[in-house]
Amino acid sequence: MDDLTHRAKKILASNYLNGFTKPAPSLYPYQWNWDSGFIAMAYAHYDEKKAVKEMKSLFSGQWKNGMLPQIVFHVDSDLYFPGPEFWKTDEAEMSPTGIKTSGITMPPVHGFALKYIVDHTTMGSENINEIQFLWDKVFFLHQYLYTLRDPYQEGLPYIIHPWEPGTDNSPILDSVLEKINIDSLSLPDYHRKDLQSEDAIHHRPQKKDYDRYVYLVDLFRKLHYDDKEIFVNSPFLVQDPLFIGILSRSNKDLISLGKSLGRDTQQLEYWDNLTSKSMNEKLWDPRGIYNAYDLKSKETIDVYSNSGFIPLLAGIPDTHQAKIMSGYISSPSFSGTTNAPGYLCPTHAIDHPAHDPQRYWRGPVWLNLNWMLSEGLRGYGNGTLADRIIKDSLELVKENGFFEYFDPRKNNLSPAGCGTDHFSWTAAMVVLMSQENN
Ligand code: GLC
Repeated sequence: MDDLTHRAKKILASNYLNGFTKPAPSLYPYQWNWDSGFIAMAYAHYDEKKAVKEMKSLFSGQWKNGMLPQIVFHVDSDLYFPGPEFWKTDEAEMSPTGIKTSGITMPPVHGFALKYIVDHTTMGSENINEIQFLWDKVFFLHQYLYTLRDPYQEGLPYIIHPWEPGTDNSPILDSVLEKINIDSLSLPDYHRKDLQSEDAIHHRPQKKDYDRYVYLVDLFRKLHYDDKEIFVNSPFLVQDPLFIGILSRSNKDLISLGKSLGRDTQQLEYWDNLTSKSMNEKLWDPRGIYNAYDLKSKETIDVYSNSGFIPLLAGIPDTHQAKIMSGYISSPSFSGTTNAPGYLCPTHAIDHPAHDPQRYWRGPVWLNLNWMLSEGLRGYGNGTLADRIIKDSLELVKENGFFEYFDPRKNNLSPAGCGTDHFSWTAAMVVLMSQENN
């Protein structure tokens, strides 16, 4: 085992609590939804029981309508805002009994995480019950998304909060957030816990954004997390190419797993065909990227973020579209220039005014997105670009440490590592990427 993988495993071990892995030592003290999907995939390589346990712990927080929450509060902590006392989800009819969770979801990576676990362990042959159990839970989540989050039956489930796509502060969401008028007097009092370090003020979301995050949670509480009420009353309903691209990849992996488990997969096939069709008809942009859509104002949001490349992971673009997408990723907009070389893949186009190389999801490189992008490109036979993304990712970690995200500029003098150190999914992605790199 190389030294980097060894260090990655140590980080995962040190962030492991009883049955789940927290995303980082202090900033994120609970179990986070998509983080755990990526972490479980890493465990598949060296501790298959832990991989399944990570997934089962997460699904222990699943709501009665199938919604899988963004955070499961297995432990008490005062290190994070908003904690369970702010979410007040126990007042929602659909929240689970006996376990505290937040009231929104995250990108549905669990279908592909489950298939990845089966493909890389003996669970599929030796512990089929666990896999069947999880398959049903993931199916229930997809059913929730396609029934309660897709009112026009387009196959494009929407997100209701910037924390749902996991790319909280992405410029994709700016225009939607700007339209929300906040009455500061009616906004509940809140105290952020994410601004402790000196750099945080430059890296983390700004107050105007946080006010809107809090406003939306407060609205959902008042609506008792009822999806139909949220659809009617919330100013934030967005069809996001990353969230939907991930969902579609998970559909496909659930279908293939379902077939081997003897499950009926027709419904999933119907949903997934609809998703691909609508993505291409409604969200494809000939620049070589998939856009987002503001369902409230009925406006397309032009996307200059790598979220728009994630449909590659699901095989949504045809080979011609995929070629244009690879061209866009390789262009100076994402790859930098000879004078200003960059690491792939910045979260937001370098030549777009909203690009900020150090601020949360507005430019920095995140390893989970890089892994998904490289997998997507490989599916289209573009191993050269995929390899470059993996090489850049591993180099960033080798040179800086296991940070949450990284400044994409190669010739920048200040350290590239941003956010929290000892970040679990960075470690998890190093385990996956090092395997592929061998
Ligand atoms: C941040 C990230 C989100 C992640 C969470 C825990 O909020 O934006 O994607 O899941 O931290 O790591």
